Amino acid sequence: MNIKSLIQTTKALLAFDKGILAMDESTSTCNKRFAALSIPQTEEVRRSYRELIITTPRLGDCISGVILFDETIRQQTRDGVSFVKAITSAGIIPGIKVDTGVKDLAGYPGEKITEGLDGLRERLIEYHQLGARFAKWRAVFTIGDNMPSRSCMESNANDLARYAALCQEADLVAIVEPEVLMEGAHTLEQCSAVTEDVLHCVFDALYAQRVLLEGMILKPNMVLPGTDCPTQSGINEVADATITCLLQVVPAAVSGIAFLSGGQSPELATAHLNAMNVRYMDRLPWELTFSFARAIQQPALRAWAGLEANTEGAQQALYHRARNNQAARRGEYRSSSESA
Ligand code: 13P
Repeated sequence: MNIKSLIQTTKALLAFDKGILAMDESTSTCNKRFAALSIPQTEEVRRSYRELIITTPRLGDCISGVILFDETIRQQTRDGVSFVKAITSAGIIPGIKVDTGVKDLAGYPGEKITEGLDGLRERLIEYHQLGARFAKWRAVFTIGDNMPSRSCMESNANDLARYAALCQEADLVAIVEPEVLMEGAHTLEQCSAVTEDVLHCVFDALYAQRVLLEGMILKPNMVLPGTDCPTQSGINEVADATITCLLQVVPAAVSGIAFLSGGQSPELATAHLNAMNVRYMDRLPWELTFSFARAIQQPALRAWAGLEANTEGAQQALYHRARNNQAARRGEYRSSSESA
């Protein structure tokens, strides 16, 4: 493990006002999003779409890193340039999703466990050789009756920590992503309590597995009321609840927090990040940034719709979201920019 290079890469991923673009949808998730827009679900169409993303002009101005999927990290542009080379030439750091997805947690109906530890050490060596400099692993938690269970939290936390330790051994920065899902009728307060519990378990496990906190980035959910909760919260309320929760459990040695968007609308995800930076930036020990997938990609995917002729418009839509999130990172986002 090269501590110096791990910390250097972590700092580069958290550089000034940049953020991380997640484009690591598994083949089945990518196909589902394509199917919803009647886009053909073939390897070549997925490749074209990912090429569109990484060749977006000036993307490197606002994006520090992109998270790829196993299929994508091995692909090339139409001109025969490897995606990894195209990404690094744009001044962006390539990363890779290394979990292999979620499965039902035996004995706990309705709960999930993330898989992918078998053979991970060898896969990480290969990904590093392919050019990845950071990795991601996502665990998910549902709020419901007696959920998440202690068993679900501890099993997933343990696996996240083992993954992170293996990443650092392979000189890859670990993005640790415990996601408390938005689906449900739970309140903001319930989401806060569960998120705090989950993060507590995760940091206990990271400590036990001797993970270098300066060489990892936490990728949590924001604290939000469930999508079916009758009482929805205002932007500042979400910002306050999220920061209050994170301050309880995230050690100051962690370099940065990069939020997932979790199904929020692109504008709302940006507004929430902005409010957190406006209200708290000067008082926080960590950088606060974004690692959105849907909240950056969705408008671009819709604009593209699988048609070559729409490429430029889709790239403009992608850049627009990346730019607005960059502004939110500085606490300078204005919702009026959405209609510009
Ligand atoms: P969303 O921003 O769409 O939630 O995705 C983030 C991510 O990386 C999911 O693992």
